[in-house]
Amino acid sequence: MIQVKDQIYHLGLRDWELRSFHGHELSTFNGSSYNTYLIKDEKTVLVDAVWNPHSKQFMDILDKEVGIDNIDYIIVNHSEPDHSGALVDILERRPDIPIYCTAKGAEIMRKQFHKDWNFRAVKTGDTLNIGQYELIFVEMTMIHWPDSMMTFVKGPNVLLSNDAFGQHFAGASIFEDENDECVVMQEAIKYYAGILTPMSALIKKKINEVLAMNLPIEMIAPSHGSIWRKNPLRIVEKYAKWSDNYDEGYVSIIYDTMYNATKKMADAISKGLESKGILCKQFNSSLSDMSDLITDIFKSKGIIVGSCTVNNGYLRSIAALLDEIKGRKFKNKVGAAFGSYGWSGEAHKKIHKELEEAGIKMVHEPIGFKYQPEEDELEACFQLGREFSSYIK
Ligand code: FEO
Repeated sequence: MIQVKDQIYHLGLRDWELRSFHGHELSTFNGSSYNTYLIKDEKTVLVDAVWNPHSKQFMDILDKEVGIDNIDYIIVNHSEPDHSGALVDILERRPDIPIYCTAKGAEIMRKQFHKDWNFRAVKTGDTLNIGQYELIFVEMTMIHWPDSMMTFVKGPNVLLSNDAFGQHFAGASIFEDENDECVVMQEAIKYYAGILTPMSALIKKKINEVLAMNLPIEMIAPSHGSIWRKNPLRIVEKYAKWSDNYDEGYVSIIYDTMYNATKKMADAISKGLESKGILCKQFNSSLSDMSDLITDIFKSKGIIVGSCTVNNGYLRSIAALLDEIKGRKFKNKVGAAFGSYGWSGEAHKKIHKELEEAGIKMVHEPIGFKYQPEEDELEACFQLGREFSSYIK
């Protein structure tokens, strides 16, 4: 058990081996953690639990450090199984413990676990006195589940933010300022891009709502990754930017290729962009990690996507990519499509259509060339890059 601040403790469970999350949808190359907190006031309060594969380890920690019989209240900020799975084991031994959560949280847990535990539904602004400290609840509806909420501990002034402001990151320290700040921030933006992007409009509104509550936040303790101890509002400011049509002004050229014809087109497009002073990155989608790719797309102002034609469509890594882009509901990004083909030549046209349907503003006609591109065709790719640049600055 590690002291977070005053009488708030972190129960210390880090998952060093985790390499994917949400099944195998998201990569987690730096592991993750399930941050559960214990508040030892006149009442002993457990805030969130852990994913059930870690339930035994978690129960051992609780038995050793707290004693299940000593827990007065449980706060469930979010009922997704990575935070609620171990509740089954706790509640099996102590079914009487009151569980404070949103009404949606109770509904979801009833459906997840088929148990009617001692739920106490709370809403934004509701409080719970636990002795010296007071807990203030703030609903975070659809950030990122219908039940999500945060708990502010008035006294030590720590915001237990659950998924918000978190990272899939297991660090030597539980505090961000004792870990590598660049790695933590990269994992924070990857988390945002991978999970929270579709809710950006809600997040923008919610940040303003929370700031208007004037909570004297001294520390932000999420349920994954590092705790923001040094100037914690830094991560809130980042979220305000990330939720507001964010980009870092570069272009990502993403392609898949069979005999490098489409890659040659990508190279020529890059040269065109660079000739106009635009920064760009190239990714072969079949060789790239999808979560990292989505993070780069999130940071890009423009995306140019290419594939050769196969079976009247595009290669499968591009199919997966287009589906991911559609799901993220990116805003304020520009795009173009390209690709080589042998005879029928559908890929570049279909990519154009898919990106347009995903909300990307297409600023150039799709271009496709037969077999290996010739000099004049590479020049057309170069010109695409040059023309595309005018939408980036
Ligand atoms: Fe970390 Fe949405 O669960």
